[in-house]
Amino acid sequence: MDLGLKGKTALVLGASRGLGAASATLLAAEGAHVIAASRSGDAPAEGMEGLKLDLSDAASVAALIERLAEQPVDILVNNCGGPAAGPAKGQSSAAWQAAFEAMAAPIFAITDAALPGMIAKGWGRVVTIGSSGIVQPIPNLALSNGVRGAVAGWSKTLAEEVAPHGVTVNMVLPGRIATDRLAQLDGIKADKTGASLDAVQEASRKTIPTGRYGTPEEFGAMVTFLCSAQAAYVTGSMIRVDGGMIRGM
Ligand SMILES: NC(=O)c1ccc[n+]([C@@H]2O[C@H](COP(=O)([O-])OP(=O)(O)OC[C@H]3O[C@@H](n4cnc5c(N)ncnc54)[C@H](OP(=O)(O)O)[C@@H]3O)[C@@H](O)[C@H]2O)c1
Repeated sequence: MDLGLKGKTALVLGASRGLGAASATLLAAEGAHVIAASRSGDAPAEGMEGLKLDLSDAASVAALIERLAEQPVDILVNNCGGPAAGPAKGQSSAAWQAAFEAMAAPIFAITDAALPGMIAKGWGRVVTIGSSGIVQPIPNLALSNGVRGAVAGWSKTLAEEVAPHGVTVNMVLPGRIATDRLAQLDGIKADKTGASLDAVQEASRKTIPTGRYGTPEEFGAMVTFLCSAQAAYVTGSMIRVDGGMIRGM
């Protein structure tokens, strides 16, 4: 199937590894010109343009916003690093503020900067990587659950505003996808409970109907489909890629 991505320009944030890297790689494989942004600026594959971006640094975000005014993109995949693990009780106001400034505010500003170019062309795709924690909050990840909830509300609101201009806005929610971030979180759980890493991962896999963690490529395939011509009538949606982990409908 030709996904209609040849000749499109895609900016993928948090693209040096993990879910962002897999999404960038699959978009490039479909013929898109990919700009892969991250703090390291490392492009995950040959033929992509690597771009240095630190979402928690206002000057770095401002430089990208300036670039988007000059060089519009057709596709924006929003992604960021995950915040520190921790409970809801006792989180400081500074911690909430820092998580919002790293995971929400820059995403809103970068999307705002990308939208005029998409609206001018009457075609655009905004896909934001979220978390299953939006639907079913994950214990000990209060900052992630809370700030991503705000991002979900923003994404849904925006979808209606730009739909008449041919721009779709969706979220993809990972359950447990085997990346550095998941390995880190499993490690934290092992340290906290005294169980071995193997035991933590085995228990985790047992909660997933497919019995395994997903691969970054399985996740990136959904992101890529939502960026395609065929997905023109999908907007305002949150699609789970979780092996059936979330039991709610
Ligand atoms: N994997 C899962 O199962 C899962 C589940 C639920 C939610 N999530 C969330 O989905 C997102 C991606 O997950 P992942 O597993 O791919 O994470 P990951 O392996 O830690 O990758 C994160 C990516 O974001 C970049 N990044 C981190 N901080 C950044 C910053 N301040 N500015 C710009 N780029 C930054 C990293 O590159 P640099 O270090 O080079 O900047 C890297 O490319 C995270 O927010 C994670 O919490 C993941």
